[in-house]
Amino acid sequence: MASYLVRGGLRLTGDVTISGSKNAALGIIAAATILDGPCKIENIPDVADINVLLEIIKSLGAEIRRDSEGSLYIDPMPIDSWSADNERVRSIRGSYYLLGAMLGRFQNASILMPGGCNFGTRPIDQHMKGFEALGAHVSIEHGRISLHAEKLKGENIFLDVVSVGATINIMIAATKAEGITVIENAAKEPHIVDVANFLNTMGANIRGAGTDVIRITGTPVLPAGGSYAVIPDQIEAGTYMLAAAITRGDITVHGLIPKHMEPLSAKLEEMGASIELGDDSIRVSIEAGSDLTAASFKTMPYPGFPTDLQPQTTVLLCTVLGTSRMFENVWDNRFQYIDELKMMGAQIMTSGQMAIIDGVPELSGAVVTARDLRAGAAMVLAGLVAEGTTEITDIAKIERGYENFTAKMRALGADITRIEN
Ligand code: EPU
Repeated sequence: MASYLVRGGLRLTGDVTISGSKNAALGIIAAATILDGPCKIENIPDVADINVLLEIIKSLGAEIRRDSEGSLYIDPMPIDSWSADNERVRSIRGSYYLLGAMLGRFQNASILMPGGCNFGTRPIDQHMKGFEALGAHVSIEHGRISLHAEKLKGENIFLDVVSVGATINIMIAATKAEGITVIENAAKEPHIVDVANFLNTMGANIRGAGTDVIRITGTPVLPAGGSYAVIPDQIEAGTYMLAAAITRGDITVHGLIPKHMEPLSAKLEEMGASIELGDDSIRVSIEAGSDLTAASFKTMPYPGFPTDLQPQTTVLLCTVLGTSRMFENVWDNRFQYIDELKMMGAQIMTSGQMAIIDGVPELSGAVVTARDLRAGAAMVLAGLVAEGTTEITDIAKIERGYENFTAKMRALGADITRIEN
């Protein structure tokens, strides 16, 4: 197992460019399997979760090629199976999009229960509710989900819970249903808009993505043939913006969409950071002689504060004197990493979904584990300001979602090394 060694105490400065969004790319790659021809997708991040999904669709028969610039060519026409049996399905969350895609394309789907980061129960009842409304029979037996429909027919679907995954999954299946599907109480995350834009570019008819009502007019043939570029990764961008604030540094994050970053930019500004917006960049710096003030955060579906920046933000709050609060409103068990932070000297008390953080003058280096993808990134951020050296183990979890993480960090001045134990 590999680890990162981080020597703390260095102020990060300079420029970093953001990769394509992992979570948008997962939806788009799955959506590409319902097309009636090949397509080119640009700005696909080279991270483990994406590579696993590509392996799975290859095993279903898709032809896949990647060029040196990171563009991906997918020809879904040779796909001749709707059943994904291998263990890879269980290692990522995004494999659940193959349910919607295979149901749309073959009116049948069969995959093992998806895996992904562990932060409590991760039900998929809203996905199933949507598929059933479209006419599918759902059975879940021995850890396998099977869907079958004689015919998919558009319906009105009201989601009981705002779910990113259910919104995208139903949108993909409904693209191949007959008639009109309306998803109400839909999630509004940027990657939902991106999957809809991708499908529309390839011939689909989806309106309203980015609002809580999405209307999909089923399209029997999706001619494809075009090219599409994935949006930048909002969470990767946020992680580097937080690295600037945590090290009291000065970083310009390039290639992002400033609008997507508003929930974080606004809070950093409120805490006393200087935020300079460019057309596709944000500079985060802390003016000499000033410091940040304590704050309260509550994670919410977009456009609220993203849960996927919660652990990294908690690290920032550890470095700010005074008492801050973090309320996790999306996942029921996303504070497991706090035990690791406490080993580094953090003073945090949790009560249910709330963490109360008392800033400390200094964290200290320790051996800590990446409990999940974002929690792992948070440990690296903590290591950047800790006294001495921090070893982060189980870093495969971090490499599921951050492209060239150590190279990007080192270019900003971080002392981080990857070691094979
Ligand atoms: N929920 C249900 N029923 C469902 C689906 C979700 O009750 O059928 C609940 C969940 O338990 C949770 C809430 O709804 O409390 C939100 O879950 P959602 O379905 O939106 O999450 P997801 O689609 O499984 C995606 C991202 C996560 C991110 C969440 C929330 C992907 C592959 N994953 O998960 O990203 O935390 O949305 O924004 O897109 C990450 O990238 O590190 C990551 C974990």
